[in-house]
Amino acid sequence: MIKIAPSILSADYASLGSAVDALKPWGADYVHLDVMDGAFVPNITFGAPMVKALRSHTDLVFDAHLMVDEPSKWVQDFKAAGADILTIHIEADRHAHRTLQLIRSLGMKAGIALNPQTPPEAIEYLLEAVDLILIMTVNPGFGGQRFIPEAAKKIAVIRKMLQEKGLAGKVEIEVDGGVNAETARICREYGANVLVAGNAVYSAPDPREMIGRLRGE
Ligand code: DX5
Ligand code: ZN
Repeated sequence: MIKIAPSILSADYASLGSAVDALKPWGADYVHLDVMDGAFVPNITFGAPMVKALRSHTDLVFDAHLMVDEPSKWVQDFKAAGADILTIHIEADRHAHRTLQLIRSLGMKAGIALNPQTPPEAIEYLLEAVDLILIMTVNPGFGGQRFIPEAAKKIAVIRKMLQEKGLAGKVEIEVDGGVNAETARICREYGANVLVAGNAVYSAPDPREMIGRLRGE
């Protein structure tokens, strides 16, 4: 079963509450929250206080994607704000294993993200420590960019790595960046099970129908 995680990065920032309210009726599974610090990525979005303010709007899973340097500093704050999944970047943390343990110890699911140039082997020894692997198919920082097909090939490699360790059903494979009706099919075929979509959902004339298409219905 494919899950869809719309990114509110592409929603109207003046009405984020309604942007989140809409997601359940549209059939979304997760709310994808893109947190950017202006250092790890060349853009700034929002932090834990915004996540906390949105928490009362839905009971959907809050999938927070931290594009920040030294993410360990913010783990407690995102727990308090109501994040369910907390994903950090392997490139942003010299002690990723420790941070992933901290995330799990607080009762959240721990995710690890890979930029387009990062090889799958970079997380080979973290597979037991994660609940979700996020494969970036654009360079993080902005919505509405073009899907990088080369980066998507890692989906199949990582799926195989998980299978070899007997972790295939336990760890989710999420793809983020440039996902639309066509590229979603490529991601599903490679073996992804969670698809993030910002522009594709929030710019669609009929977001509910678009979410069904992304899912392959
Ligand atoms: C990019 C973010 C993505 C982004 C996806 O840095 O991590 O989640 O919002 O937006 P689209 O689907 O428009 O590429
Ligand atoms: Zn994201």
